[in-house]
Amino acid sequence: MEKVRVLSARFDLPDSHTIEVYLRTGGYQALRKALTEMTPEAVIEEVKRSALRGRGGAGFSTGMKWSFVPREADKPKYVIANADESEPGTCKDRVLMEKDPHAVIEGILLAAYAVDAHLAFIYIRGEYWYLKERLERAIEEARERGFVGANILGSGFACEIIVHPGAGAYICGEETALMESLEGKRGYPRIKPPFPAVVGLYGCPTVINNVETLASVPPIILRGGDWFRQLGTEKSGGTRLFAVSGHVARPGVYELPMGYPMKRMIEEECGGIRGGKRLKAVIPGGSSAPILTAEEVEQCTLDFESLAALKSMLGSGAIIVMDEDTDIAQVVYRITKFYEHESCGWCVPCREGTRWMRKLLERLLRGEGRPRDIDLLYELARNIFGTTHCPLGDAAAWAVYPAIEKFRADFEAYVRAPVVSVSAEVSTPRRLAV
Ligand SMILES: Cc1cc2nc3c(=O)[nH]c(=O)nc-3n(C[C@H](O)[C@H](O)[C@H](O)COP(=O)(O)O)c2cc1C
Ligand code: SF4
Repeated sequence: MEKVRVLSARFDLPDSHTIEVYLRTGGYQALRKALTEMTPEAVIEEVKRSALRGRGGAGFSTGMKWSFVPREADKPKYVIANADESEPGTCKDRVLMEKDPHAVIEGILLAAYAVDAHLAFIYIRGEYWYLKERLERAIEEARERGFVGANILGSGFACEIIVHPGAGAYICGEETALMESLEGKRGYPRIKPPFPAVVGLYGCPTVINNVETLASVPPIILRGGDWFRQLGTEKSGGTRLFAVSGHVARPGVYELPMGYPMKRMIEEECGGIRGGKRLKAVIPGGSSAPILTAEEVEQCTLDFESLAALKSMLGSGAIIVMDEDTDIAQVVYRITKFYEHESCGWCVPCREGTRWMRKLLERLLRGEGRPRDIDLLYELARNIFGTTHCPLGDAAAWAVYPAIEKFRADFEAYVRAPVVSVSAEVSTPRRLAV
């Protein structure tokens, strides 16, 4: 497969974040083309043709999402760039906003033109304060050149962009909780349907896309949807940024075509497993994706369909690699603690279930687990799955039961031979165990 750099093309250029470099390398030409040569409907059609699927988690068709926004002008419409990036393992939007903020801004403007929105927000993770400043500076640069604000490039189209920081809650990356938060309320997810394309921010039609999804749009408009699609697979078009962490020799953010073999990425791009060890497992799409065994990694390509066939998902494109020495029970415990902490508390299976799973795991890891605790944990996770108000509950369950199915021996080891050394965190739990 051809390895072309689309999203990361400017990453290595000095001062890549400035408008001078962006303009010198084809920046804002897609916006000019759309405003002068294309109708909003034609922009949506091109994005549909590209087979661009959301890079935030669910992998929904971007063009399709935009086409759901009603065309009537009885209400304002909004665009939101989801820059909350809180999924464990995920750090690719950070690099994109740091190295190429104008690509994100141009993508937002194209989305706004496509759906007739005149106000856009970038909801950015609170810890990315320095990026908020970078984005605001880039918006000002774009305004000075006539790309943001009133009458953009003399076309009559107007769009403002506001950067808004989150306050540290993972759930506020979920699109409807994000909108609640943006409206100044507590970040509880909303019931869907209605979907944001029809009833979104302030009850108005809203397009919400991940930062990387939006940054993929300018090259699609400039070079065509067909060109983008053929870089990847038929149903997962284009290239994608993969954030690889864990036990590889060279962790980092890599741009690769969709459909690229996962094993090859680990071996060639990432230099293989650190210290010449063997691969044990991979969590392929941020902590919310079910774990894969080394055998499954052999068959896996980096696209939505391949991961779905393995009953996992590509999610946010965060690939967490684990070597043969990894204790999967410890990994599951860490992830479960995360979900317990980040549960918004709105619904019982998630609020109580994550706590019970964490307590069971704590007892197991302390060496006080009963043989039936593994099945109990498994059943608990199965009962959380599909019963919660938003996908965070499913993610918490997915971290647990597939891991028990595939790596049961790691859990059983704690029952068979009570542990003599567990991590300090486990041996001194904050609350009493079950
Ligand atoms: C708990 C939770 C956290 C999420 N966090 C993020 C996030 O940080 N960034 C993101 O782009 N999408 C996140 N999502 C997915 C969004 O709800 C939404 O699907 C996405 O922003 C849509 O953009 P896309 O179609 O471009 O992927 C999260 C979803 C859930 C359930
Ligand atoms: S699943 Fe968890 S995070 Fe989602 S609404 Fe229920 S309690 Fe909140």
